[in-house]
Amino acid sequence: EKGGYDYFMLKEIAEQPKAVADTLLGRIDASGSLRLDELRISAAELREVDKIVVVACGTAFHAGMIAKYAIEHWTRIPCEVELASEFRYRDPILDPRTLVIAISQSGETMDTLMALRHAREQGSKVLAICNTNGSTIPRESDAVLYTHAGPEVAVASTKAFLTQLVACYLVALYLGQVRGTKWGDEIHVVIRDLSQISRAVERVLETMEPVRKLARSLADKNTVLFLGRHVGYPVALEGALKLKELAYMHAEGFAAGELKHGPIALIEEDLPVVVVAPSPRARSVLHDKIVSNIQEIRARGARTIVIAEEGDETVAPYADHLIRIPATPTLLQPLVATVPLQVFACELATARGNEVDQPRNLAKSVTVE
Ligand code: M6R
Repeated sequence: EKGGYDYFMLKEIAEQPKAVADTLLGRIDASGSLRLDELRISAAELREVDKIVVVACGTAFHAGMIAKYAIEHWTRIPCEVELASEFRYRDPILDPRTLVIAISQSGETMDTLMALRHAREQGSKVLAICNTNGSTIPRESDAVLYTHAGPEVAVASTKAFLTQLVACYLVALYLGQVRGTKWGDEIHVVIRDLSQISRAVERVLETMEPVRKLARSLADKNTVLFLGRHVGYPVALEGALKLKELAYMHAEGFAAGELKHGPIALIEEDLPVVVVAPSPRARSVLHDKIVSNIQEIRARGARTIVIAEEGDETVAPYADHLIRIPATPTLLQPLVATVPLQVFACELATARGNEVDQPRNLAKSVTVE
């Protein structure tokens, strides 16, 4: 049932192009517009929304962080993202014009379920993004957009994460479409790019051998740091989470701009630091800043592992190891940038002799608060 792979995680990583394509299937019409009638929230209701709150845990929370960038950019609706386990304890401001988006692969995560119950008690509408048909979270929500990743068996989330991102982009673009924003043209271009992104994920998977080799060479390290800016920041957090849960290593993700506010003191000779470089085209300021961050850490002896777009030559001189990913629109980059980090964590776990599909102390779905 592992389809010839040693672990479910490897199988699920390999299934990502299909999972992404399946999650888009039937949701983009021939004219390049989104069709999400299945949402069961009318366009009129969506036009009334004045705030969005995303609640989720773990990897799904990282998808939520990326959703915030996409939602605020394409819709101009203020969006908060909060750990489901913290949400109801701080008396959040919710009303009928707030749309709460609960993201969960299993649909059974107790923290997320309690957060959505709290939101509904306050009169807010809840939209679930979920991978498990008929599970508790979609059953208790007002609306649901299913991700079509297929069953995810490995404890570490991979294909579910990519499809959660796709679903979040669909919601953000759809809100933009029904409400009409100044980004109308951009939305059309992004829908087209999104419809072709599964091929880009496939291309990343074809070039992973050097990443595996690099991971094996780091098996005796104690710490790996991850840096990113903009949507690269949640990607850095996701890379660090994967490494913690699979390789049992100390791993931390930072917003690169925060380095100088403390974490740079951690940098020492030969410390592996993974940096997610944003696209050099779209937001050049962002890119320039990450280049100087890479220079700063390298000057202090860090071993820099840089994930950068094909054709981005400016980072190359400062990268001890360069991992190439296909060019994508800035907001979609996490769909390709996360994949090498999954492979990296999986290979490191294997090299350290860990149980990949069933890491110690963890359960696939966390049904206690
Ligand atoms: O089933 P859910 O998406 O609600 O699960 C949330 C987290 O428990 C989950 O993403 C967890 O962080 C993964 N093991 C990470 O790989």
